[in-house]
Amino acid sequence: MASMSFALTRFSGLSSKTTLSPDFDHSSRRNFLPPNRVSLKISSSSPSPSDSEPDLSVTVNGLKMPNPFVIGSGPPGTNYTVMKRAFDEGWGGVIAKTVSLDASKVINVTPRYARLRTGSAKTDVIGWQNIELISDRPLETMLKEFKQLKHEYPDRILIASIMEEYSKTGWEELIDRVEQTGVDALEINFSCPHGMPERRMGAAVGQDCALLEEVCGWINAKATVPVWAKMTPNITDITEPARVSLKSGCEGISAINTIMSVMGIDLKTLHPEPCVEGYSTPGGYSYKAVRPIALAKVMNIAQMMKSEFGEKDCSLSGIGGVETGYDAAEFILLGSNTVQVCTGVMVHGYGHVKTLCAELQDFMRQHNFSTIEDFRGHSLQYFTTHTDLVRRQKEAIEQRKAERRGLKSDKDWTGDGFVKETESMVSN
Ligand SMILES: Cc1cc2nc3c(=O)[nH]c(=O)nc-3n(C[C@H](O)[C@H](O)[C@H](O)COP(=O)(O)O)c2cc1C
Repeated sequence: MASMSFALTRFSGLSSKTTLSPDFDHSSRRNFLPPNRVSLKISSSSPSPSDSEPDLSVTVNGLKMPNPFVIGSGPPGTNYTVMKRAFDEGWGGVIAKTVSLDASKVINVTPRYARLRTGSAKTDVIGWQNIELISDRPLETMLKEFKQLKHEYPDRILIASIMEEYSKTGWEELIDRVEQTGVDALEINFSCPHGMPERRMGAAVGQDCALLEEVCGWINAKATVPVWAKMTPNITDITEPARVSLKSGCEGISAINTIMSVMGIDLKTLHPEPCVEGYSTPGGYSYKAVRPIALAKVMNIAQMMKSEFGEKDCSLSGIGGVETGYDAAEFILLGSNTVQVCTGVMVHGYGHVKTLCAELQDFMRQHNFSTIEDFRGHSLQYFTTHTDLVRRQKEAIEQRKAERRGLKSDKDWTGDGFVKETESMVSN
């Protein structure tokens, strides 16, 4: 990869983490010059589209991926067979379904999904609600499968998503056992909106910054691989838990998990959806309809990271409603290093990664971008306050009026603009 514009220095003294990426040189990590990762320019030295294919590979917290498309934690990463399939189809990385120490406490119901449709065709689905809990498979089984996958795909990135109750020893045991399988990184689920908060897990931690700081402290003191903290959007200001997580030693932020939702009421039966024995419970909303909300949260986090952690090695994984390579480009333009897809895989299947890559490359070709770093964070500079928008518009209107009025004085004629200046004073 041509460049990595996020700085690569670890937070000092917080943990003994190292990356498991076998060929990563730690000394060079410290010496990496941290160019501003979000004020990016279109490189004039980029090869022309005909010279070479745009390079989709990314290196994030020392983890090398062939492309930025990562399976988001959920059904698409729930067992060995499907994760193997994801690697075989070419996904850049896989984040497994969230695991905890005691799967026997996880009891799912069926049906647990409900769709928001604009019509009856498959393509008319725009939103997806789930009331699914974390993995109900025994931890030991999941760990065996992680180990097997890392054995068969040593060069591919496998990230374990973990969640535990409010217990330091519980978190330490879980991290220890998961790391022994050889996974490359950990994503901490501080964001599951249903079921788990009742046990002081998931969003219950992500919505309480004091609790989050304490739990992140335990995790980062124990973990030896990069840690990404996954944020809930069900909070007033998502930058607060993101800041706490990064200050507490996490290397990355993943955003967003699902948005708390009630999918709807069946107007024939008067029961809510998804309907389990006549009843339901609020769930998590995902897929296309959440994308604008996810983009806003990612933009907020990226701005905060740029202004407060610009010199640190922290990464951002954008999630929410991605189903095309062009959607992914938008998340990257707002600073995401990687882009996760969960519901999109449930709708389009694992082979969809090929379409995602082709579309992202098409976008890159259109702009003559040769690497992901060429445009990552580029569009952040165009966000400002409403007050500033008013000021800019007033100035632009004044400028246009002045142009229409023509020259104020004969001294303003210029040689280069002479013809235009003449035009500006002609009435017909
Ligand atoms: C059925 C389902 C199950 C999910 N389970 C998990 C989970 O176990 N852990 C987690 O961190 N996120 C889970 N998620 C959230 C997704 O990883 C993702 O953050 C969210 O769905 C938004 O992305 P998407 O629109 O691409 O699905 C789940 C999502 C769905 C739809």
